[in-house]
Amino acid sequence: MKKGPHLIHGADYNPEQWLDYEGIIDEDFHLLQAAHMNAVTVGIFSWSRLEPQEGIFDFEWLDDIFRRVNDLGAGIVLATPSGARPQWLARTYPEVLRVNERRERELFGKRHNHCFTSPLYRKKVKQIDRMLAKRYAGNPALLVWHLSNEYGGECHCPLCQQAFREWLKEKYHHDLDELNRQYWSAFWSHTYTDWQQIESPSPLGETSVHGLSLDWKRFVTCQTIDFMKMERDAVKEFTPEIPVTTNLMGAYSGLDYHKLAKELDIVSWDSYPMWGSPNDIDVAVGEGLRHDLMRSIGGGKPFMLMECTPSLVNWREVNKLKRPGQHRMASLQAVAHGSDSVQYFQFRKSRGSVEKFHGAVVDHCGHADTRVFREVAEVGAILEKLAEVAGTVVKADAAILFDWENWWALNDVQGLKRFGGDDDKAYLKTVIEHYRCFWKNGISVDIINPEDDFFKYRTIVAPMQYMLTEEAGQRLAVFVKDGGNLVTTYFSGVANENDLVYLGGLPGAGLGEVCGIWAEEIDVLWSGQSNQVRCFGREFDAIDYCEIIHVNTAKAEILGRYASDFYAGMPALTKNNYGKGFAYYIAFRGKADFLDTFYDYFFSAHKTARNISAVLPDGVTVSKRFGKDYEYLFLQNFTDQEKRVKLDSRSFIDLLAGGTVEGVTALAGYEVKVLKTPKQNS
Ligand code: GLA
Ligand code: ZN
Repeated sequence: MKKGPHLIHGADYNPEQWLDYEGIIDEDFHLLQAAHMNAVTVGIFSWSRLEPQEGIFDFEWLDDIFRRVNDLGAGIVLATPSGARPQWLARTYPEVLRVNERRERELFGKRHNHCFTSPLYRKKVKQIDRMLAKRYAGNPALLVWHLSNEYGGECHCPLCQQAFREWLKEKYHHDLDELNRQYWSAFWSHTYTDWQQIESPSPLGETSVHGLSLDWKRFVTCQTIDFMKMERDAVKEFTPEIPVTTNLMGAYSGLDYHKLAKELDIVSWDSYPMWGSPNDIDVAVGEGLRHDLMRSIGGGKPFMLMECTPSLVNWREVNKLKRPGQHRMASLQAVAHGSDSVQYFQFRKSRGSVEKFHGAVVDHCGHADTRVFREVAEVGAILEKLAEVAGTVVKADAAILFDWENWWALNDVQGLKRFGGDDDKAYLKTVIEHYRCFWKNGISVDIINPEDDFFKYRTIVAPMQYMLTEEAGQRLAVFVKDGGNLVTTYFSGVANENDLVYLGGLPGAGLGEVCGIWAEEIDVLWSGQSNQVRCFGREFDAIDYCEIIHVNTAKAEILGRYASDFYAGMPALTKNNYGKGFAYYIAFRGKADFLDTFYDYFFSAHKTARNISAVLPDGVTVSKRFGKDYEYLFLQNFTDQEKRVKLDSRSFIDLLAGGTVEGVTALAGYEVKVLKTPKQNS
C-alpha cells in the first residue's frame, strides 16, 4: 500500500458482476489509474460468488483483484458480505429472514433484511468473515475492513422477541414491577404480569407505552452493535492491526450512532445530498452538519467518506445530475469537515438490475471520455495535492447536541405539532437551523450527545432537548457554573430517560434553575399563523411553538417578549447568569432572521472565534483542519456565483492553485480553496 500520508480516492467495485465479460477487469484497472484512484472497496455483496453453494468456496477471482491492486500499489477496503445473503442460505435456513412489525416473515429478496439475532445467520457470517480474514491477513493491499453494509432496520421474529425480553430482564434487574413503574403501564391497564407478555411495538399491538418503544429502539441498537461486534471480532482474530469501519448513513434515525461508533476504529459514511435542489445552500448546511456529526461520533478523528455519487442517484423523485464543479465542491466539503477519503458508489455502472441508472465513475459507454469521469479524475488529482492534509484534525470550541434517544422520544410524543416522517417534531430540522448560524460564520462545531464530555467546549447548544437525564442536567449545570455558555430552547428538560415527565415544574433535571425560568404552558400555532417577539430592537415572527415562561430569579434578564395574544408581554427569550457562565432560553421557534440576530449577539457577547474574522458572503463557509505545524483553511463556495472573501492579515499558501494569497481572494462558482499557513499560538 502507498506509503506516507495520503487521502484515499476510491470506489465500490463489483468485479463479480463482470467476470464473464472478457477484458472488462483489465480495462477497469487502466481506468482506475486514469481516475487517480488509490483504493477499491470490494466484496460488499459478493457472498453468492464467494460461496456459491453451502460449504463450497471460491476466492480465486478475489485473489486476482488483490494481485492487481497490489501491482498498482493501491489498497483494498475489504467488505464482509453480510449485507446480502445467497438464495441457498435463506431457503435452507428461513430463520435468517426478517419478520416485520406486523409479524410477517419476509421472502428472499432485496438486501439488508436479515435477522440480527438468528444464531444461524451469525454462524454463517462468522464463518465467511473468518475465511476472508485468514486468507488476506498480511496482504499488503488490505487497508480497512468494511463490515457489512449500512446496518439498519429491525426484526420482530420470535428469536428477537426473546432476546428483547432477556435484554429487559437485565436492564430492570429481573424486577417486572420496576419495569411497570418506568413504563407507566397502569395507564389503560397495560400492566405486565409476566415477562413473556412483552412484545416489541407493533401497529397491530402496543404503541402507546412510550417507555417500551424507547427500550425497543435501544435494544435494536444494542443488538445491531452485538452483531457488528461479532463480525469485527471475527476479522480481528486474524488481522488485529487492520482498522475496522462500517458505512453509516449520517442522521439515520434507526440506530444510535453515538453508541455504535464507539465499537469502530474509523467512522465512515455514505453521503447523498440533493445537490441541484432549489436551495443548494440549505443542502450544504445539512451536509456540513452530517459530516460534523460523523466526525464527532468518531471522537474527532478523521473519518472516511465511504460513498457518494460521482453524479446522480436513482432513488429520488427527481434524480438530478451534479452540475459541473459540484462534485469537486462536495468532495472537498467532506475533506474540509475532517474526511480523509472521497469514495464512490460505484466504479462501473451495472448493466442490469435496480441500480443500472445510478451514477458511477465509468458509465455504460465504458470509456473515460465523459464529463463525470473527468470530474472524478480531477478530484483524484486534487486529493493528491492535498496529501499532507491526511491525519489533520478539526477542533471546535462549540458543540451542538444531537441525541438519538431524544429524537425517538420526541417522535413518539402525542401532541405539539406534527410534521410527519421520521422527524415528526422537526427536531433534526431545528438542530440544523441552529447549526446554520455557526456554518455561515465559519465557526467549527462538534455534534455530540448528552453523554459526551461538555467541558472541552465553551459553548453548548441544546435545541429541543426534551429528554434530559438528571445526570446530564447536572453536568450541564456544572458546565455553565464553571463558565460555559448554554443555549437551549422550548420543550427542553421535559422527560427523563424513560420518557416520564419531570414533576414539580419544567424544565426539569436542574435546567430550570440553570436558565432561571419556569415553563408553564406551550402554545402551538397553525402553519401560516405567527406571534411576534420583540427583541434586539425589532420584531421577529414566532412560529409553530410559543412556550409561556416566567423568570424566577432576579439575575435572569429578559431579552425578548411576546407581542400579542394572551401571553403578550411575557418573556420569550431570556439570559441567566449562572455561576461564571450564561444560559439562554429561547421559548419560541423563530425563523432564520431571528436565529441570525440572536447568534450575532451571542457570538459577540461571548467572543466566539471564527475560522476567519471577516463576515462571509452568503453561501460561503470556512472550515479549518489542524496539523502539527500548519493549519489548513477550506474556503467553500456553494453557489454558482463568484464570491469574495477577506482573509485575516496573514499570508497563505494556496495548495491547489500554487503561490501565495493575501488580502481579498475571489472564489469562482462552486470553488473551494485550500489555504495553508503556519499554526498560530492561540
Ligand atoms: C447505499 C448503498 C450502496 C448503493 C447506494 C446507492 O449507500 O450502500 O450499495 O445502493 O446506496 O445510492
Ligand atoms: Zn429476528
